[in-house]
Amino acid sequence: MEQPYRESLVELVQSLNKPNAVVVEVGVHRGRTTEQLLKTFPEITVFMVDPWGTWIDGREITPEMQAGFMAEALQRTDFAADRRVVCRKTSEEMAAESGMADLVFIDAQHDYESVRRDLVAWNPKVRPGGIFCGHDYNGNHKGVIRAVDEFFVGKEFAVAEGSVWWRQIPTA
Ligand SMILES: C[S@@+](CC[C@H](N)C(=O)[O-])C[C@H]1O[C@@H](n2cnc3c(N)ncnc32)[C@H](O)[C@@H]1O
Repeated sequence: MEQPYRESLVELVQSLNKPNAVVVEVGVHRGRTTEQLLKTFPEITVFMVDPWGTWIDGREITPEMQAGFMAEALQRTDFAADRRVVCRKTSEEMAAESGMADLVFIDAQHDYESVRRDLVAWNPKVRPGGIFCGHDYNGNHKGVIRAVDEFFVGKEFAVAEGSVWWRQIPTA
């Protein structure tokens, strides 16, 4: 069975009502979410942002393990090689050079400082009318809750099934 958060993400992409939407996934890991999005929406493009570096949320992950995760992500999404953009960079590096996207999904490091940095870096890259969202707004990830609550203070956002926080960027 698919993870509830992936189903929520699919619903958010669906809600854009834009067949050729540009989606950014920040934190890709093995590419299972990317694969599902590319399969469900045959015209979207997904930017896959992940340094596949040596750490994930404080757990020590060896370079060999990360090379394996990246290889799996590439293999899973190979069927849509013309609609994926592999960005082996950190979130901040990629945000600095990124154009505008219709949906940005934050799912990289989950500590407060990292999530705060991701929010600051990527919010301006979401088109008006687009959706800014991320994973793990739940009690196991208090840093995510704190960073998201602070960032959106005085602004509306929602939390969907599978701990997906999301906000539609207002049109002017
Ligand atoms: C929870 S996993 C992502 C899971 C994936 N979104 C999914 O749904 O299957 C977190 C990923 O974030 C990546 N990561 C760590 N630091 C990062 C950074 N600074 N920028 C982008 N990604 C980062 C890790 O390499 C790891 O693959």
